[in-house]
Amino acid sequence: MTEHDVTLERTDGPNRTIAVDEDETVLEATQRAGVRLPYDCRSGTCITCVGRLLALEDGDESGEGERDQPLDAAAAFTYRRPPQALTDDERADGYVLLCIAYPRANCRVKVGPRVRAEVGDSPWA
Ligand code: FES
Repeated sequence: MTEHDVTLERTDGPNRTIAVDEDETVLEATQRAGVRLPYDCRSGTCITCVGRLLALEDGDESGEGERDQPLDAAAAFTYRRPPQALTDDERADGYVLLCIAYPRANCRVKVGPRVRAEVGDSPWA
């Protein structure tokens, strides 16, 4: 079974790299590994679990702030169901709902309250 390494980078704590099977979400993998990640609905509607793609590890090694264009999260993740809490623009800016996201590449994702604050409230809240 294919795995992808997803590194969760926190502004307030240690970074953790999680091996995520292709048929499990990032949230499921963090729970299996005993790593805390905020969540609520687990269905893509509340935005609690949001992260932002920083880099793809396979050939695209730009760090945050070093690139002109944001990374499109579609290159790194597919979804179990539609990510209703994100707009198309937010998805294009690299935001991803980790409770329903399957990784499709090794990547680094920023997580934590600052990312949550960047996106704002869910339109469904
Ligand atoms: S936990 Fe609600 S959108 Fe992920």
